[in-house]
Amino acid sequence: MTKTVYIKTYGCQMNVYDSARMADVLAPLGYAPAEDPEGADLVILNTCHIREKAAEKVYSELGRLRDLRESRARAGAPDMTIAVAGCVAQAEGDVMLRRAPQVDLVFGPQTYHRLPELLAKVRRARSGSRTAPGRGVLDIEFPMESKFDLLPETMTGQGPSAFLSIQEGCDKFCTFCVVPYTRGAEFSRPAGAVIAEAEGLAAAGAREITLLGQNVNAYRGDAPAGSRTWGLGRLIRRLAEIPGLDRLRYTTSHPRDMDDELLEAHGELDKLMPYLHLPVQSGSDGILAAMNRRHGADDYRRVVERLRRARPDIALSSDFIVGFPGETDRDFAETLRLVTDIGYAQAYSFKYSARPGTPAGALEAQIPEAVKAERLASLQSLLDAQQEGFNQSSVGQAMPVLLERPGRKAGQLLGRSPYMQAVHVAAPAHYRGRIVKVRIAAAGPKSLSGVLAEKPAVARRWASGAAAAEVAP
Ligand code: SAH
Ligand code: SF4
Ligand code: F3S
Repeated sequence: MTKTVYIKTYGCQMNVYDSARMADVLAPLGYAPAEDPEGADLVILNTCHIREKAAEKVYSELGRLRDLRESRARAGAPDMTIAVAGCVAQAEGDVMLRRAPQVDLVFGPQTYHRLPELLAKVRRARSGSRTAPGRGVLDIEFPMESKFDLLPETMTGQGPSAFLSIQEGCDKFCTFCVVPYTRGAEFSRPAGAVIAEAEGLAAAGAREITLLGQNVNAYRGDAPAGSRTWGLGRLIRRLAEIPGLDRLRYTTSHPRDMDDELLEAHGELDKLMPYLHLPVQSGSDGILAAMNRRHGADDYRRVVERLRRARPDIALSSDFIVGFPGETDRDFAETLRLVTDIGYAQAYSFKYSARPGTPAGALEAQIPEAVKAERLASLQSLLDAQQEGFNQSSVGQAMPVLLERPGRKAGQLLGRSPYMQAVHVAAPAHYRGRIVKVRIAAAGPKSLSGVLAEKPAVARRWASGAAAAEVAP
């Protein structure tokens, strides 16, 4: 009998990847994906602990699931299993089982390859007593074995643009951040395993792969042969040889780990897209030191300068935190100055959120919410203006766009420019997965729209006598 699973993903791309891999683990057990939790046999919340708001969302979702379970029981419908995965699960573990007794299973980012055994344990626990408290199953170990060695080789296609985790965990311990605690120590997958997975994704239809890691450019994986290790630049060079794979990206990188080989790859490999998310967090040296970022604002400017020398059209993105403990108006002004100096194509900015167990969370000099809100608003208006300016500068250009998914309107597809801009294009549905030249006609604050600038498939179809209506853009 087929069962269904609904997986809801919060947080970063690594969670998106993990959710796809959980689906791969569950497929051989007969679980098909469900579109919503209503009729699902199993619901998994794959959670994020990075900011307080992110973590709180999980508990409100769990409240909704409890109500859903109750209304299903009243209607005589089959029960569901409620599981929590990801970084909140890792951080809160047994506290979560006590706070939310409707949860049947809690497991962390490093143990989801054990889902078959864990679900069997849940079944056993429930056949004992359905209502006894504390019946939830918990697995938040950092196991000796790597999940990557034990996950199924067959993967569900992720579509034209796929994620591939190559590195996990973090040893950097920025003072604001929970990731070193929720994901554990840095670990790089062997290059051979990454290459094999990339070939598999390409065979399943991926044209673009984004290599993922909390610190992806700290990648140091065993070389396919011999005893040396490869850095990210070397790995990308090898992945660029895979036929059918046309675009490579990587995220998230740390400014300290942009080494020569990686900078050279940006200059030499056309497949490595001219866009980089390179978080800086703050433009103040004092705040950067208090954050334990281990670089100054000028070090960051120099890295950007080298990147632009290697690849003059590279577009940049970043993360910023405003209102880190002790941040003065002067510190904040330094952040605005850095943003003005660099010029970003887009960026994410957040109010500092004190996280349990992190050094900065315990600092006395916490900044009032109102000040954080004010700084966030002024930073975001500067970043928004830069993004809009960048998007405007694309108007009139013809650029290759990878058409990834159906657009908002009928007859439209949504794709990405080399610079990660979302591009709406009128194109037939079967163009999905193609890289086409698009003439950018208009720019909005967050996306572009354009028209097909070449129609290679149209010519072919005309020649074979197919109906023109089917292919006309
Ligand atoms: N590894 C990446 C970032 C991972 S977390 C890096 O080193 O840059 C993603 C982003 O969330 C961070 O870049 C940071 O801007 C933000 N973030 C992390 N902890 C935060 C906190 N406690 N409060 C607010 N924002 C935070
Ligand atoms: Fe967090 Fe810093 Fe590690 Fe990034 S580098 S994951 S911000 S501790
Ligand atoms: Fe969130 Fe965990 Fe990613 S805390 S940002 S889901 S690594």
